[in-house]
Amino acid sequence: MDQIEALFPIPMMRSPALLPPELNEAAVASIRDAHVETNLRSDALFHTQVANPLENNLFQSIAELAVPKLVDFGVLLFGERLRWTVKEMWTNMLEKGGSQALHSHANSFISGILYLTPSHPACRTVFVRPPGGNDFSFRHHTRSAAIGPFNAGKYVLPEAEPGDLVLFPSYLYHEVPKNQGEQRITIAFNAIPDSLDCWGYRINFAP
Ligand SMILES: [Fe+2]
Repeated sequence: MDQIEALFPIPMMRSPALLPPELNEAAVASIRDAHVETNLRSDALFHTQVANPLENNLFQSIAELAVPKLVDFGVLLFGERLRWTVKEMWTNMLEKGGSQALHSHANSFISGILYLTPSHPACRTVFVRPPGGNDFSFRHHTRSAAIGPFNAGKYVLPEAEPGDLVLFPSYLYHEVPKNQGEQRITIAFNAIPDSLDCWGYRINFAP
């Protein structure tokens, strides 16, 4: 019998309804009250400052909910239950017409997005297949071609509800297309393990 193996796949984890509604609403209210900064590449995307979650009770409660999920997801990346820290958090307020340019997150191993408001279908988070080498490449993308995990160039996250968490490896490039609906609010964060060990050669990370 034929067997197909998914070699070297990239994990992404969804945790539906991680944030209880009261915490979700408190976060939205606090973010709408906060001092905001305009994104450098879209004048309809606003951020609150990157914050150490330990300095803010609300963000700290949210980080505490995320940590067990980081431990689970970290097993997929590193094979062991490590100690994880959310080292920074920030918020994204995407107004109608705003978008988030393609990017990845440096100095981090797992990144997460918490969705606090519904997203218009046009502005779902898009994850992009890591580019290959520098050789010529060939594709067969037609209206009739079946697109799946082995040939797709992009993955559009299915609708995320308020309170949902999505975790992904920080190296994975992602973007948000132009928002065609109401204000969309998300919290994003970066997380690191205490240390990584390769046969006794240990690297420690500190937030
Ligand atoms: Fe991001």
